Amino acid sequence: MNIQTPVKVDKAERMRKAREEAYATPLAQFHPGAPRLFQDDTLWPWFERLRKEEPVHYCTNAPIEPYWSVVKYNDIMHVDTNHGLFSSDSTLGGISIRDVPEGYDYPSFIAMDQPRHSAQRKTVSPMFTPTHLDELAKLIRQRSQTVLDNLPRNETFNFVERVSIELTTQMLATLFDFPWEERRKLTRWSDVSTALPKSGIVGSAEERRREMDECYAYMSRLWNERVNSAPRNDLLSLMAHNDATRFMDPDNLMGNIILLIVGGNDTTRNTMTGSVLALNENPEQYDKLRANPALIDTMVPEVIRWQTPLAHMRRTALQDTEIGGKQIKKGDRVVMWYVSGNRDEEAIDRPEEFIIDRPRPRTHLSFGFGIHRCVGMRLAELQLKIVWEEMLKRFDRIEVVGEPKRIYSSFIKGYESLPVRIPG
Ligand code: HEM
Repeated sequence: MNIQTPVKVDKAERMRKAREEAYATPLAQFHPGAPRLFQDDTLWPWFERLRKEEPVHYCTNAPIEPYWSVVKYNDIMHVDTNHGLFSSDSTLGGISIRDVPEGYDYPSFIAMDQPRHSAQRKTVSPMFTPTHLDELAKLIRQRSQTVLDNLPRNETFNFVERVSIELTTQMLATLFDFPWEERRKLTRWSDVSTALPKSGIVGSAEERRREMDECYAYMSRLWNERVNSAPRNDLLSLMAHNDATRFMDPDNLMGNIILLIVGGNDTTRNTMTGSVLALNENPEQYDKLRANPALIDTMVPEVIRWQTPLAHMRRTALQDTEIGGKQIKKGDRVVMWYVSGNRDEEAIDRPEEFIIDRPRPRTHLSFGFGIHRCVGMRLAELQLKIVWEEMLKRFDRIEVVGEPKRIYSSFIKGYESLPVRIPG
């Protein structure tokens, strides 16, 4: 007989120990961006203590360069909406806690300031208009049906692999009009492009370089085809036929391509997996959803808050300034912890709870705010809505039967695997 460990027991003990450690450690020794806290899901008490005791915190004892943590909802909003004070520019360090390392430095519009940022962002926004999303909805539904109809019954399988990766990869292939049979290359490039040295995703810096070179060569070939043919409705063609991006230097082109691959991949994938986990950890919410599938509309933004698939975005101060009474110096790294702002009790009612029928479910920071607010957010919500509509039609329940394996990263907050079973 195959007896699985109940998820909740393990979790309670792990959380108790993490709380003890977080409250016993002096604040001066806090490094809330340590990837291990995210991998073992013990980040919560560390951020809870920061929100209570030092909501703008300077970390100087990490194996990375010193950084400020901003952990309260309103302070995060202040940083995110003041792009004149806080830069995203990759030449100053970029958008994640570590400065852009050598070999990762492809410029993309998420890591640019004005005016270049908006000019390049505008070229891809037609992909995400309501009319185009209505067209995509039909395709997403058909594909979700096929993937779900092929799932095994009464057998443990990895939800990440069989559902989340498959559906988000199919969507990416459509957005890029990428050769269908080779679509898993996109998933691999997404994983490799954001992989930390210790993550286990790539064996060495050389291996990563080699795989990114392959991506570069492949996508350049597709670009060359599109730039010299009639405009079509895919992301490459949109950029190839707009003057703001048509003449980008090759590194900028590659940067934007990687941005769109990662943006459309990890985030939605991890929220999809997170939704199954959240409903299993909160069975009364799952019952409520099954009794009233119309609640999918509020469950989707709630799970995006609960998961926060991008745990942080980072900025660099362009001049001396102040946040929450702390003096920030020009050039300092400022990390906005969305994952913490989304649990801020002063902004969100009962933030620790997963409540699928919250009155204002879109009060969350997961898509950011200001000029860089996620351009693909409506598409992400649409994908999640459709997959849940189709899952509720087919399965009475999807049961989580073991611990999720989480990713070693304080940037991408997600899962390598989630064992599930569909009783049937
Ligand atoms: C930007 C989150 C899905 C493409 C962002 C930002 C966040 C985010 C936090 C940065 C916001 C800021 O700096 O203020 C998410 C989440 C998603 C999701 C939580 C799913 C649940 C998608 C999808 C796509 C996409 C499906 C495209 C297919 C982008 C792009 C940017 C971006 C291109 C850069 C925007 C800019 O710099 O102007 N996203 N995203 N995202 N996202 Fe998403």
